[in-house]
Amino acid sequence: MAELSHRALRELIENFGGCDEYFTEMISAGALIGGGPFEAYYIDGGPCPSRVVYQLVGADPRQIAAAAALLDRQDCAGIDLNMGCAAPAIVRLGAGVRWMADPDKAAALIALVRPRTRKRLSVKLRLGMEADIDYLVKFCRRLEDEGVDFITLHPRTAREKFRRTARWDFVGALRQSLHIPVAGNGDITDAAGLLRRAAGDCDGVMIGRLAVRAPWVFAQARAMEKERTSELPEINLEETALRFLELLSRHQPPEFHLSRARRFFGCFCDNLIWGNYVKTLLGRETGLAGMERILSAYFEEHPEERSASKAITGSGGI
Ligand SMILES: Cc1cc2nc3c(=O)[nH]c(=O)nc-3n(C[C@H](O)[C@H](O)[C@H](O)COP(=O)(O)O)c2cc1C
Repeated sequence: MAELSHRALRELIENFGGCDEYFTEMISAGALIGGGPFEAYYIDGGPCPSRVVYQLVGADPRQIAAAAALLDRQDCAGIDLNMGCAAPAIVRLGAGVRWMADPDKAAALIALVRPRTRKRLSVKLRLGMEADIDYLVKFCRRLEDEGVDFITLHPRTAREKFRRTARWDFVGALRQSLHIPVAGNGDITDAAGLLRRAAGDCDGVMIGRLAVRAPWVFAQARAMEKERTSELPEINLEETALRFLELLSRHQPPEFHLSRARRFFGCFCDNLIWGNYVKTLLGRETGLAGMERILSAYFEEHPEERSASKAITGSGGI
């Protein structure tokens, strides 16, 4: 996720026991091959490079193929192509979900990229312009025929952005129609929901925003699976928040600190009763030190908010 799934978040999740694989934020293929000043940060796969999947975004097939060839030299779990981003700035460029409007062009892209990397090649996409299972299946079969190894589906249309609930029945329907694995993504709100989806008709589950709000969710899901308990060792929200700030300053360039901290706390503060108020205060800060002071003062004033136990029960988003 843009400005969210970078090394600092991975470190935080690893501190809680980790998850199977981490997708990076989308990396501009053009900027990567152009050698932009921050590209080293985008391709820092730490602390667990072999479980990192690099996601490329772009509109130019030759640039994407060249970027895939460059990433092929990295120690990583795979390379993913973004055909799902519905942000207007991305779609206008002809990137993200725009690929889904043109199956021939998308298939030609895979044909160009596939020979440039021996890494596992995947595609993350949405339903497309409409919620049309026949179109989706035909589109994905073209990708499969060109050598894509698996697909992650966020089952919303381009126009829906984050509206409506994710249509998980499309994940199962797509999986039944392809030979390659299909992972599902969307609207999981707690560990119980993650386990329920994982036990359903899909080959894998991708978590987005919840991994930021509750970086312990994977550990909790494992504990629930093994020990049939949803009890977690005490999670201290203040410590987690401050640790994230520390990881951010250690692993990201100063130019990225503010925007990335705001993005992170935009999700993480949903754990707090007065979360919107804290987000507003954090939004006014101009540096990480000020953010640290705001957070410490908040927990000083609301010590009962330090424990995350109240934050880890819920409907599971199903
Ligand atoms: C701030 C933000 C940035 C995102 N950036 C990306 C991205 O770079 N690549 C991508 O494939 N999806 C991106 N997404 C979409 C998520 O991967 C995911 O599909 C979506 O949030 C639904 O899953 P969730 O309900 O678990 O969050 C982003 C989502 C958010 C909220």
